[in-house]
Amino acid sequence: MGLNVHRVHSPTLKSIILLLALCTLSDCYDPLDPNGNISVTFDIFQRTPDNGYLARVTLQNYYQYRHVDKPGWKLGWTWANNEVIWSMSGAIATDRGNCSSYSGSQMPHSCKKDPTIVDLSLDASQNRSEHCCRGGLLSPWSIDPFYAFSSFELEVRNVGDNPLGQAPINLTLMAPGPGYTCSPLLDTDLSVSSDFGGLRQVPVLRTWKSTCAYSSFLANTIPVCCVSLSSFYNPAITSCRNCSCGCREADKSTATCIRSSSLSRSNEDNTIDEMIECTDHMCPVRVHWHFKNNYMNQWRVKLTISNYNYNRNYSNWNVLVQHPGFTQKARTYSFNSTKLPTLGLQDGVSLFWGIDYYNNELVHSDKDGVGLVTTEILLDKDPNSFTVSNGWAFPRRIYFNGENCEMPLPDTFPMLPNGGSILRATYCGFSLLYILLFLALLLILWF
Ligand SMILES: *[C@@H]1O[C@H](CO)[C@@H](O)[C@H](O)[C@H]1NC(C)=O
Ligand SMILES: *[C@@H]1O[C@H](CO)[C@@H](O)[C@H](O)[C@H]1NC(C)=O
Ligand SMILES: *[C@@H]1O[C@H](CO)[C@@H](O)[C@H](O)[C@H]1NC(C)=O
Ligand SMILES: *[C@@H]1O[C@H](CO)[C@@H](O)[C@H](O)[C@H]1NC(C)=O
Ligand SMILES: *[C@@H]1O[C@H](CO)[C@@H](O)[C@H](O)[C@H]1NC(C)=O
Ligand SMILES: *[C@@H]1O[C@H](CO)[C@@H](O)[C@H](O)[C@H]1NC(C)=O
Ligand SMILES: *[C@@H]1O[C@H](CO)[C@@H](O)[C@H](O)[C@H]1NC(C)=O
Repeated sequence: MGLNVHRVHSPTLKSIILLLALCTLSDCYDPLDPNGNISVTFDIFQRTPDNGYLARVTLQNYYQYRHVDKPGWKLGWTWANNEVIWSMSGAIATDRGNCSSYSGSQMPHSCKKDPTIVDLSLDASQNRSEHCCRGGLLSPWSIDPFYAFSSFELEVRNVGDNPLGQAPINLTLMAPGPGYTCSPLLDTDLSVSSDFGGLRQVPVLRTWKSTCAYSSFLANTIPVCCVSLSSFYNPAITSCRNCSCGCREADKSTATCIRSSSLSRSNEDNTIDEMIECTDHMCPVRVHWHFKNNYMNQWRVKLTISNYNYNRNYSNWNVLVQHPGFTQKARTYSFNSTKLPTLGLQDGVSLFWGIDYYNNELVHSDKDGVGLVTTEILLDKDPNSFTVSNGWAFPRRIYFNGENCEMPLPDTFPMLPNGGSILRATYCGFSLLYILLFLALLLILWF
């Protein structure tokens, strides 16, 4: 609204500054995964006599904790000339396009100028290629590097004068929704495979590469997750902030609320209406951190992830927690976990995910109860930093499936029964200062 009102002045400058401000404050740059990206590599490994080539396209997910979920990735590009995809294995083009200029008995697989490619399902039996057919899913790099990449092969004909073709332009990646921006496909060092058990190096003929980066700002999604807190020393629970992921309608009588997953309704394809349990936070997912025990040399946390959707399961979910306590040894009982490099952060960062066939599927809620997965975590104490006061024992940041979860405000954190408030003041004052700075920045931008 503000932008429209002030359009008379300098709208572009203002919106650019606003965008930059939002970028720095949200996650155009993710400090917990600064090098994350999905790379797309186009390797031409053979020329064909029909003015064409054979190529292998590889998608590699380098994100530490962002996966490509169902219904899977969609890769698109625009051919630079009049290329056609003669055949394809390990994936398919969604549209054949206009092949009316081909009259032979065999028709090209796709004549479209801007084909869209989707992966084959896991059980596809025909037209397979090596490392193909993963239903469009890519695992996060730090959870399963083998399933973090996927390849398909294609034969391209009609490539024009340059026998090794010209790189396609305008690469697009939906993984599965919007939010990814891909750099142009550029010539890079040739990919090399090895032969004879590693004795012989075999470079391909030409390699083009692009990297695609995610921005939740571009994805335009409403928050999906919020954090609630509790502790052994205070019976009060700090619930998720009201309206963390949208506000429930005034009519409180319904148990089921409809939630749209995207802010923009322009692209109907990517807007899914979800049925969720009506709550004050309206988040489909809640992560609860309970500070359960304080022992002499260790402390124990119970971590619970609840799914308030009525019709959506999260397969292969993951949760990332930033907390100074994770710099110490931690034992996780019912989830799989790993520590991630922290690149200059003082806190530790731990990634949690489900155990196969046990709790790697976070099932939806139904009338009988909320779908949830839970674990206890036993952490060693660093006597120099551990404290029950100041809200120290609560997480600094939590991500669910790579999306930032809304934290409660520090001044609502569970309080020590007495004397805690003086100690809390520093932490809370710091955060208030931060909020005031943000508001001041917005005001400056607006007026
Ligand atoms: C993509 O990720 C890889 C692995 O983390 C990294 O080496 C590379 O620099 C990244 N590329 C870009 C453009 O960020
Ligand atoms: C799949 O394989 C069959 C036989 O191997 C071939 O005729 C067909 O063209 C292939 N399909 C695609 C999409 O390349
Ligand atoms: C398909 O392409 C041919 C020429 O290649 C053109 O004459 C024809 O109009 C096109 N058909 C459609 C439906 O665009
Ligand atoms: C490539 O994308 C740009 C920006 O979206 C657009 O202006 C251009 O027309 C596209 N080129 C082709 C050949 O589609
Ligand atoms: C959140 O909403 C509930 C009921 O909808 C209300 O009782 C409570 O006071 C609200 N909390 C805040 C902090 O506004
Ligand atoms: C979610 O998982 C449960 C248990 O595995 C299954 O019964 C249900 O059909 C699944 N629902 C959806 C929407 O996939
Ligand atoms: C933990 O995850 C790793 C990588 O995905 C896997 O190899 C290992 O078997 C998992 N452990 C359990 C107990 O699921």
